[in-house]
Amino acid sequence: MSIRQQDPAVEWAALASHAERLKKIAISEHFKADPERATKYSLEAAGLYLDYSKNRLDDQARGALLDLAQASGVAARREAMFAGERINVTENRSVLHTALRDLTSTTLEVDAGDILGPIRAVRERTFTFSERVRSGTWRGYTGKSITDVVNIGIGGSDLGPRMVCEALRNFAHPRLRMHFVANIDGAALADVLAKVDPQRTLFIVASKTFTTIETLTNAHTARAWFISGGAEERDIARHFVAVSSNSEAVRAFGIDPQNMFPFWDWVGGRYSLWSSIGLPIMISIGPENFEQLLRGAHAMDQHFRNAPLESNMPVLLALIGVWYRNFHDAASMAVLPYSEHLQRLPAYLQQLDMESNGKSVTLQGTPVTHATGPVIWGEPGTNGQHAFFQLLHQGTQLVPIDFILPMRSTHSLVGHHDLLVANCLAQSRALMIGKSVEQARQDSGTAPGPATTAEQLASHRSFAGNRPSNTLLLERLDPASLGALIALYEHKVFVQGVIWNVNSFDQWGVELGKTVATQIGKAMRAGEPPADVDASTRQLLARCMARRT
Ligand code: F6P
Repeated sequence: MSIRQQDPAVEWAALASHAERLKKIAISEHFKADPERATKYSLEAAGLYLDYSKNRLDDQARGALLDLAQASGVAARREAMFAGERINVTENRSVLHTALRDLTSTTLEVDAGDILGPIRAVRERTFTFSERVRSGTWRGYTGKSITDVVNIGIGGSDLGPRMVCEALRNFAHPRLRMHFVANIDGAALADVLAKVDPQRTLFIVASKTFTTIETLTNAHTARAWFISGGAEERDIARHFVAVSSNSEAVRAFGIDPQNMFPFWDWVGGRYSLWSSIGLPIMISIGPENFEQLLRGAHAMDQHFRNAPLESNMPVLLALIGVWYRNFHDAASMAVLPYSEHLQRLPAYLQQLDMESNGKSVTLQGTPVTHATGPVIWGEPGTNGQHAFFQLLHQGTQLVPIDFILPMRSTHSLVGHHDLLVANCLAQSRALMIGKSVEQARQDSGTAPGPATTAEQLASHRSFAGNRPSNTLLLERLDPASLGALIALYEHKVFVQGVIWNVNSFDQWGVELGKTVATQIGKAMRAGEPPADVDASTRQLLARCMARRT
């Protein structure tokens, strides 16, 4: 097991002094000093192009970041992951989502057994099933073809399939409408049930553990709704399938194991869209496009595994994140896709990043000595420009940004895409160059009101600039480029986890809330607020219970 032996303290100290030195140099100055900067600070991999030149970095600082990656053992840990070592130490599991998208190797021995054969066999089953639903040969209990697919799952069993189906809607089957129900709030399921016909609806109950309360509650309610619509118990087999790694629980729920698509404990929930959890994606875009998604991700895996650290896209993206998190005190970062169909990407990345690296204990079980994962947030551009960009340009916090831009559109409406591109590139440039008070003074336009002098107005209208960003270009939003993009972020998160010396593959932080919810739920069923909770919780609960319908 390649857990690092010593803390790379020297490298951390060197980076702190580089950050101090670079405080005096604006990003724009680096461009003036080096006409080659845009070329030197950009690279291509797996069909993606990353320009990271608009960062508070110079060659020395970049070199020092790479030294940190080296000293933190990134290369060895990366190999340990690909080889199937049990790097998820707290759950004693391998981390092998990369194997799910390896369509070229023949075998991969893990724990004295090949895993690629079983992966292929399950993938074939999911593909065959998807084709039957798509072609209309899989029919509902009254003989009608399926028109609506409802995925019931939460977290990793929802966010990936939901995000990808939305992103690739231009590739979707025209007859099939995809729906996603995650929330325990019955409004989520009620909204969907109001739109679908039980005779033509397929429910996919997706849960790795098959113990998640939200998913099981929604699934039970959906089943009751289905039966109340006139179907019989035996008809469930035509309308309910499960995706899980817990076949016992699936059987106990009443779904025929024939209709269950398995996956393995070495697939983390938030890394599972490549497995059977991707069934809604396969149904929506078809097996061939799903394979393209896998191939795109695999191309990024190959790049990540083989490229030297200094020209390795996930490594560089990770190091830039560490640079701002640990040496510029940036508590959050924004991911801003300039693509309407990537609107669910920030939510997906929130789970990927924050559930992976929102940790404060090292792999050795001691408290971390530096900040770990930032808050991830974002919305598509240009919408965000008219909402929160004000803070990005003139607020008091530093928010590093990833702009994501497909160069070609997937629609044929004239004029829109050029404007989208112009806006995206304008934002990263404006954030970097800012506008001095002197320039603002020369602005014509708004005249100061009686309570504001021209000088004051110039201050309001100036921009400090020097706000960093990366820009990621995709050829277009298609299955392969999306696969590469998701894998890029997966590996970025992995590298940061190695540098912060945390376990990126467990999520113990979600457990306490579940336990307390169970305790409160039990008390509600008993009709009494629990005595052994704090006064605030008891009082809030009493108010809620008084209004129960
Ligand atoms: O509660 C967090 C979590 O365990 C996530 O890690 C996971 O993706 C989600 O719940 C759903 O879990 P399951 O697929 O087992 O229902």
